[in-house]
Amino acid sequence: MDHFLYRDGVLHAEDVAVPEIAAAVGTPFYLYSAATLTRHYRLFDEGLDGLPHLVCFAMKSNSNQAVIKLLADLGAGMDVVSGGEYSRARAAGVPGERIVFSGVGKTRDEMRMALEGGVRQVNLESEPEMAALSEVAVSMGVTVPVTVRVNPDVDAKTHEKISTGKSENKFGIPISRARDVYAQAAALPGLTVIGVDVHIGSQLTDLAPFEEAYRLVASLTEQLRADGHDIRRIDLGGGLGIPYARSNEAPPLPTEYCDLIRRTVGHLNAEIEIEPGRLISGNAGIMVSKVIYVKSGEGRNFLILDSAMNDLIRPSMYSSYHEIVAVREPAPGVEMAPYDIVGPVCESGDTFARERAMPPAAAGDLVAFRSAGAYGAVMSSEYNTRPLIPEVLVQGDQFAVIRPRPTFDEIINRDIIPEWL
Ligand code: LLP
Repeated sequence: MDHFLYRDGVLHAEDVAVPEIAAAVGTPFYLYSAATLTRHYRLFDEGLDGLPHLVCFAMKSNSNQAVIKLLADLGAGMDVVSGGEYSRARAAGVPGERIVFSGVGKTRDEMRMALEGGVRQVNLESEPEMAALSEVAVSMGVTVPVTVRVNPDVDAKTHEKISTGKSENKFGIPISRARDVYAQAAALPGLTVIGVDVHIGSQLTDLAPFEEAYRLVASLTEQLRADGHDIRRIDLGGGLGIPYARSNEAPPLPTEYCDLIRRTVGHLNAEIEIEPGRLISGNAGIMVSKVIYVKSGEGRNFLILDSAMNDLIRPSMYSSYHEIVAVREPAPGVEMAPYDIVGPVCESGDTFARERAMPPAAAGDLVAFRSAGAYGAVMSSEYNTRPLIPEVLVQGDQFAVIRPRPTFDEIINRDIIPEWL
């Protein structure tokens, strides 16, 4: 459930009419609902009630400072994968003891930054990375809590570009070698082994792969404990999918996912961490755009929007589906017509949808892309020197721009022409 609903024939975000925001901010823009973010975070937090746990929001899905602060104020931890995300979390006021540092290639500089600012744990993904962190920690005279991310060789049955738990993927260490690698980690100075970590992929719409992976992690935990390691924390990663096409998709609910966690690892008396990104932010955001032209082509009609692949790359990168709805609710019984919905960027890949049934459209109409709160703004670029689009947050009847649209001068003045040119 989200808080983007038609009211009196107009799409609202909570209590604010979308056209009102469009008039104030200009199009295109991202629009997030505080109530939806809150609701989604709580589904996980309450779903794990009774187990010691921390819900660490995967900041890669949406790292705006306002979103981070909202979730952190509810008690969330953060899962970060770069020095930049670490700095953002700290700048938004998240204490180090609630920040988990993940990622397959952390540099020594990033490690140093996390050790200086404080970190809950570092999730290690290879032996060379383990050795590097040990060196950095020793040089700083500190000891850092670590887990090792294991690769359970489980097929997450999701898009190949976001599947991470198969042996051919670059992530984690093979679970078959885990006991050796844990023995090595335990012997390294500056590291304290405290847990196990796994993450098998993103946009999973079936619980079975999670179940398989979590059972493997549970038996590994028992083996590692028998080997003498103090495994007191289990990080289960993120990945629960969301309904993008709400009419025919019903992925498992967070409550069902949390029940699965209880069943598979609940008996281990360990602190549970999860790292959901998309499920918290995805359906808490829309992208609002304006029709610039309606163009009749050979046998097809195009809606040319003022947003493009640089603003929302998911359709061209993963062929992903986003619902696109008219901001003015179509009258009941209105005849829908197929449109190719495209942006102004000069490549055919700049296509959001083909032959999408839409109500008759005219230049100036507003449309909204649903499920755009995760991996939308964070993956945008300035391709074609198109300014990054603003982000707006709604709470009840108030809204605020939480990242403004840069001016052309701001963009252009970042370039430096050397004086010898
Ligand atoms: N933890 C780790 C270690 C991850 O690599 C990821 C996502 C997450 C947590 C959060 O997964 P989520 O709950 O959001 O599924 N850009 C792609 C998604 C890439 C996901 C990468 N890792 C997309 O637009 O679909």
